[in-house]
Amino acid sequence: MKSAFMCSAAFAALMLAAGAARAESLTLYCSADEAWCQQIKTGFEEKTGITVDMTRKSSGETYAQVRAEASNPKGDVWWGGTGDPHLQAAQENLTEEYVSPMRGELHDWAIKQAEAAGNKTIGVYSGALGFGYNKDLLAKNGLPEPKCWADLTKPEFKGQIQIANPNSSGTAYTTLATMVQLMGEDKGFEFMKALHKNVNQYTKSGSAPIKAAGLGETTVGIVFMHDAVAQTAAGFPIVTVAPCEGTGYEIGSMSIIKGARNAEAAKKFYDWALSAEMQGKAKDVKSFQLPSNKAATVSELTPDLSTIKLIDYDFKKYGSSEERKRLLGKWDSEVSSLPQ
Ligand code: F6P
Repeated sequence: MKSAFMCSAAFAALMLAAGAARAESLTLYCSADEAWCQQIKTGFEEKTGITVDMTRKSSGETYAQVRAEASNPKGDVWWGGTGDPHLQAAQENLTEEYVSPMRGELHDWAIKQAEAAGNKTIGVYSGALGFGYNKDLLAKNGLPEPKCWADLTKPEFKGQIQIANPNSSGTAYTTLATMVQLMGEDKGFEFMKALHKNVNQYTKSGSAPIKAAGLGETTVGIVFMHDAVAQTAAGFPIVTVAPCEGTGYEIGSMSIIKGARNAEAAKKFYDWALSAEMQGKAKDVKSFQLPSNKAATVSELTPDLSTIKLIDYDFKKYGSSEERKRLLGKWDSEVSSLPQ
């Protein structure tokens, strides 16, 4: 009797173990806003029954993590964040080639991103860089309305501006690369040095400066325009600006991590993340990027890229390992080390 009980208990334990082994899971590194990352985690779990372990970190930080874990990969998919570090990861063989059957549903700019990286990444959304300001604080401080990048270097804006650190943040790296392309390298760095004098804090995450502006902790935040719009939508007194000189933009990207332990779940996630259904839900959590799936619903609050003066951003060059390392090194030694 006792041994029969032990046998059936052992059998039950075995079955449980087999079940556990069968249960699919996915480790997701997410580089967009926390609310969107959470929505994606839950959405995929509900859709597929696959358990998602999600960590949110900025674009440059996630790149550094994927690189540090390369000999023993822990993540399966890296979703979101600016495209430059995804391209760098592809070049450094940290990510896996995959051609999704969903590709035909995407805008050309999303596919171009994949083609630039031997299909090791793909565009999931896009958005223009700009800045936003707190109109109440601006009035209180008696400051003129900033309309251009050049306005942000004026002495009256000393201590009034926040931007992220380009090492951790894709937003801030896009700003650095934009200035170099818009003004030429020497003038671009002169701009970054002049801006440095007015910066009150370099944050880790790219959208933090405009959240701080919403709360009245800084007057101006340099961010993607969709992140400024999100603060206005949340009820804060934020005005979004498309800078008069023109601006850069991002192709938010997604990559499968090389050596992913859950490769099949990673591909399922990848295909789902390119669907109109998934991308159309971003606006429900106030993420107003332009979706890469042509059929995804676009919020009326999404900045219309066709009305913004955009530079011809060279994603391949500024996402290359050599150029990204060189520019970040130069910013560390020539800009952030300067006294304010
Ligand atoms: O989700 C907001 C967002 O601005 C994305 O559009 C962008 O890809 C990402 O954050 C960049 O974040 P970070 O600058 O922190 O790397």
